Amino acid sequence: MSHFDRIIDRHGTDCVKWDTYGPDVLPMWVADMDFAAPPKVLDAIRAISEHGVLGYGSQAGNLALLTAWQDRLSERYGWQVAVEELIPLPGVVVGTNLVCRAIGEPGLEALVPEPVYGPLRSAPSYGKMKMVPVTLSPDSTGNYHLASDAIRVAITERSRVLILCNPHNPLGRVFTRAELEGVAELALRHDLLILSDEIHCDFMLGESRHIPIATLGEEVARRTITLMAPSKTYNIAGLHSSVAIVHNPELLARLKREMAGIVQGLDIVARAATVAAFRHSQPWLDELLGYLQANRDLLSQAVRERLSGVRMAPCEGTYLAWLDFSAGRLTEPASVYLRRQARVALNAGTDFGPGLEAYARLNFGCPRSLLEQAIECMAAVWPPRSEYQCNTEG
Ligand SMILES: Cc1ncc(COP(=O)(O)O)c(C=O)c1O
Repeated sequence: MSHFDRIIDRHGTDCVKWDTYGPDVLPMWVADMDFAAPPKVLDAIRAISEHGVLGYGSQAGNLALLTAWQDRLSERYGWQVAVEELIPLPGVVVGTNLVCRAIGEPGLEALVPEPVYGPLRSAPSYGKMKMVPVTLSPDSTGNYHLASDAIRVAITERSRVLILCNPHNPLGRVFTRAELEGVAELALRHDLLILSDEIHCDFMLGESRHIPIATLGEEVARRTITLMAPSKTYNIAGLHSSVAIVHNPELLARLKREMAGIVQGLDIVARAATVAAFRHSQPWLDELLGYLQANRDLLSQAVRERLSGVRMAPCEGTYLAWLDFSAGRLTEPASVYLRRQARVALNAGTDFGPGLEAYARLNFGCPRSLLEQAIECMAAVWPPRSEYQCNTEG
């Protein structure tokens, strides 16, 4: 028995995941996990609340946060970052939108490989840029690759930025060095910036290793803005803690100009939780990764054996499974069918790009018994009865 097996009732706790659909729907959608945060994180928050005074934070508190980031980046990736190159932000989505505002102008284009996490598709509009989708398609084994050829053909003289999500939500890919080098080479050749959302960087389920694209070389670092956060890793997304890593002084100045007077740094609870997570919660994280890997394996086996024709993209990172239900030839989006018939809520494929009604994303960051329950519920309505299917093949 692992402590991650404990079921914590989240109903009625100001929780979007559990309080959006009815009490009889099992929520496997929004990307937070159904686990308590690490004990050391909860201790840090408790200490603040027991002290009782919740005033403004200090410079020293901010520095403690930034040095925790510095040490983490150095230890994990050998990535040396100056304190001045780290900008604490209240969320990665805030960061992507802010960066697009800082670098965009009407007439410019942002390349966005999709399917991808929805806010990365809408971010370019904050900079009045046109979003240019680059379609990532599965190969015959159902795996997706970041093909630089597909990106190359989408580049025009108006292209300003390539928006990357690595590890990838919803595809679960951890891009290889070769794939990242392909992207970096294009960025150098065509003078593109890279906005890299690396919020899922800690979720390495197996042999994969995360490579921050900015670590590929000085020239790449100079044109990259990386966004990271402790929020997914330690399940503290409600605290809105993240960071932008920017090596380029001109980009840094633009970003700061955009933020001035509007976007502040982090509050004292988010700061203390982040430092406690980074400094004192590695054993918790190691155990979590083992647990998630077993959940991933359980799900992938169940999909193969019990959901005939459904395909799950191999999930190398994240706790999100990208499922292709096209074999069911459903008359409605897969997520709608599963919510109504199986009482299981997955994210709609169309949250990640157009034309993806037959796909859905399942969050397996939950106690195993809940995952098993979700699998049972889906298997009970799969394959769909003929009245839910299109009557023509293909
Ligand atoms: C790829 C990606 N980026 C950003 C976010 C949200 O980040 P934040 O809550 O820090 O805005 C998510 C949440 O699911 C995500 O999957």
